[in-house]
Amino acid sequence: MKLEDARNTEQKHFIPVVKRHPAVIVEGRGARLRDADGREYLDLMAGWGVCCLGHSHPELVRAISEQAGKLMQTTNIFYSLPQLELLERLSDLSNGALPHSFLVNSGTEAMDGVVKLAHRATGRRRYVSTHNSFHGRSLGALRLIGQAKHREPYAALLPESDIVPFDDLDAAARAVTRDVAAFVVEPIQGEGGVNVPTDGYLAGLREICDASGTLLVFDEIQTGIGRCGTPLGYQHEAVQPDIATLGKGLGGGFPVAAFLCTDAVAETVQIGDHGTTYGGNPLAAAAANTVLRILAQERLDQRAAELGAKLQGRLRDFQTRHTDLVETVRGRGLLQGLVLRQADKAAELPARALADGVVVNVTAGRVVRFFPALNIPEDDLFEGVDRVLALLG
Ligand SMILES: Cc1ncc(COP(=O)(O)O)c(C=O)c1O
Repeated sequence: MKLEDARNTEQKHFIPVVKRHPAVIVEGRGARLRDADGREYLDLMAGWGVCCLGHSHPELVRAISEQAGKLMQTTNIFYSLPQLELLERLSDLSNGALPHSFLVNSGTEAMDGVVKLAHRATGRRRYVSTHNSFHGRSLGALRLIGQAKHREPYAALLPESDIVPFDDLDAAARAVTRDVAAFVVEPIQGEGGVNVPTDGYLAGLREICDASGTLLVFDEIQTGIGRCGTPLGYQHEAVQPDIATLGKGLGGGFPVAAFLCTDAVAETVQIGDHGTTYGGNPLAAAAANTVLRILAQERLDQRAAELGAKLQGRLRDFQTRHTDLVETVRGRGLLQGLVLRQADKAAELPARALADGVVVNVTAGRVVRFFPALNIPEDDLFEGVDRVLALLG
């Protein structure tokens, strides 16, 4: 299909809420994508941080195909072997601190589940979250989101929100009173501009929440599954949440997400409090099991830490040579942001990079975000990064 035909079909039939890149992607292998015209691209955003094993990893493809030929869907009224295996694997991911989980199909559904769960567990209905946070676009997630551009169009449908500055313990302490069900925060804000909090912020939040019986929720949808150099992003600090959410990398490209919680929180729910037709189906669970097995076997979290440090070094070198262009570099593991001084330079970059055969993302106006597959070959990573930097400098 030619680009022109794709545009025509979209214009006639799509609900136009997304600005598309001018390419029809037909195939992905590892860190490379190919479009309908046969052009190849180096992919530095991995399906928005999702394809942590690269595109079409042979073991993931095999696991999905085999499971599809066996059993795809049962609903949760039956036990299924892939789901039971996944529940154990998710508990292991938190070293047993969050032994219970519920499986859903997308990150935003996981956040909706958290809103309900925290209400169930505390009987409270206020939630505190942080400026610039992103938690998804369903109504439950929008009541938490800290970005006005997503929240404002639907403000009439949402309760008042309590949003405090990120990385500010004093503000958190003032907002978290005895009627707050949960404090919800990303260990590193992804969509908000790769904002890394000061060491000790997460542990400080733990103390604040404990003082008022408020649940601490880490949204790990972008930072989890090894991306930030540890299996879960919060494990950079000695802290345990009451609830965490996972999505994106969990299925390596297959839609699956989860919310995890402690024994104490799980004890507060009743049969019928929540449910889903598709969530935790055997096919999705088989995909997630394969991702988690490969993540552990190949220590992709450690690889993300090492390669991420090299990537940060390369970006910092560039910053040193171009202080007029670059404000700062920040990130952890394979979630790195190059913060440009000028939004217009950033805005035009993805299209210019695409024309040069590289897929790169810009978030929060002027942050060039690198979040490739965790197993991206080092040569591919630096070839792509160098080409992006050459376009800037
Ligand atoms: C931190 C965070 N939470 C939640 C979501 C929403 O996930 P989904 O798009 O799967 O609904 C995202 C997506 O970018 C995210 O980055």
